[in-house]
Amino acid sequence: MSKGCHGNTGTSASGESRHTPLVAAGGREVVVDLEASAHPWNIGAGFRPLEGWSYNGVTPGPVIEARQGDTLVVRLTNRLDEPTTIHWHGLRLPAPMDGTQDAQPTVAPGEQFEYRFALPDAGTFWYHPHTNETVQLERGLYGVLVVRGPDEPVVDRDRVLVFDDVRLDRSGAIAAPGGLMEKHNGRMGNVRLLNGRVNPTIDIAAGQVERWRLVNVSSARYVNFSLSGLSFQIVGSDGGLIESPVHATEVRIAPADRVDIVAGPFIRGQVVEIQSLRSAGVGSRRPSTYGTVHVGPTRPSVADVPKRLRTIVPLAPIDAEPTREVTLFGFPSLKRGWDFMVNGECHHRGEPVRVGDLQVWDIVNKTPMDHPFHLHGFFFQVLSVNGRPPAYRSWEDTVDVPPLARVRIAWLPDDRPGSWMAHCHILEHHAAGMMMHFDVVRSS
Ligand code: C2O
Ligand code: CU
Repeated sequence: MSKGCHGNTGTSASGESRHTPLVAAGGREVVVDLEASAHPWNIGAGFRPLEGWSYNGVTPGPVIEARQGDTLVVRLTNRLDEPTTIHWHGLRLPAPMDGTQDAQPTVAPGEQFEYRFALPDAGTFWYHPHTNETVQLERGLYGVLVVRGPDEPVVDRDRVLVFDDVRLDRSGAIAAPGGLMEKHNGRMGNVRLLNGRVNPTIDIAAGQVERWRLVNVSSARYVNFSLSGLSFQIVGSDGGLIESPVHATEVRIAPADRVDIVAGPFIRGQVVEIQSLRSAGVGSRRPSTYGTVHVGPTRPSVADVPKRLRTIVPLAPIDAEPTREVTLFGFPSLKRGWDFMVNGECHHRGEPVRVGDLQVWDIVNKTPMDHPFHLHGFFFQVLSVNGRPPAYRSWEDTVDVPPLARVRIAWLPDDRPGSWMAHCHILEHHAAGMMMHFDVVRSS
């Protein structure tokens, strides 16, 4: 697992332009200091403050905002009692900046590490540790990174809504890691959180049209997002805007997934619940409330959401021949409870991938449960799910693979060689081995 192509700390300024030729030069430098430390986490009235871990004392951590083409510089200081790293989920960055143990030595308590990379894409991304994730994320170490492009739809307000859950024990503290059930299903919290709080109130003026960036950072819980049944427009996914807004009353957000929506206008006095609906899958059995929207006096709107947002050129036809099969499987283990595997092995090491060679991967789920499949560092397009094309074209870094399904994805490795990985983003499955390492290599 610790074997990697990059033993260096990767902070040299010359690295990015070499590995990320996709960015026009001349962007700003956005410098952020992030300190990971323990802090009391107040999730709401009636709850004991939790023993939280956070970035800069808040959960979610600070929203990092930048423009496409900027360079992000993050100075991480680790004030925890255990090592950590930051993975930049969804970003097309150079391999040594990926924040995994393949990419860098972990940052020991008291140590610092500087992440520095260009931001080639606009979209809603997030950051979280890639060390002891099942514990560090549950305790509240996560945050959102918003990158804006030159042609964003005009809205009255842009908000980030982070969905999480946390498992509390009888005393109201974060529960110790659970048993077999938790190892199998992933950790399901018994308290739902929106932006780190229990059922917060969101105030919005009547008549306003807002962009909401929905991010699911839960260990294992799917969110079947609904706004008390009101309709909204889906405008973006993991890799930024989709081609045209899609009207919906419900959208499924797998762990680690992002969906950008346009919500509103609402009517004065309206009270709308941000809910997760009943689901047949791993999600909640009953509708549950994450937050409540209160609609106040009317304000004029300047929103302008065009019918056409972007063009996404298909990478491959729907019936493209797969170049690789990636099977997901789980098996009871006497020693560990459950082993979760890719292609028959825990922590699978896959064949290298060549820069410029189109990848068509069939992700085959051999289990009766959903797995959110996440590819580090590169966006893919979903070509088909059980042979059928998805409802709209998009760039993704995480896709739900339904029970026993076959999901065909296509992606193009651009010139960022190094050690990369893909895994199930149910954190307990990832920890139990449902992941693969592979190298991206230059053709000689
Ligand atoms: Cu957000 Cu390897 O993960
Ligand atoms: Cu899984």
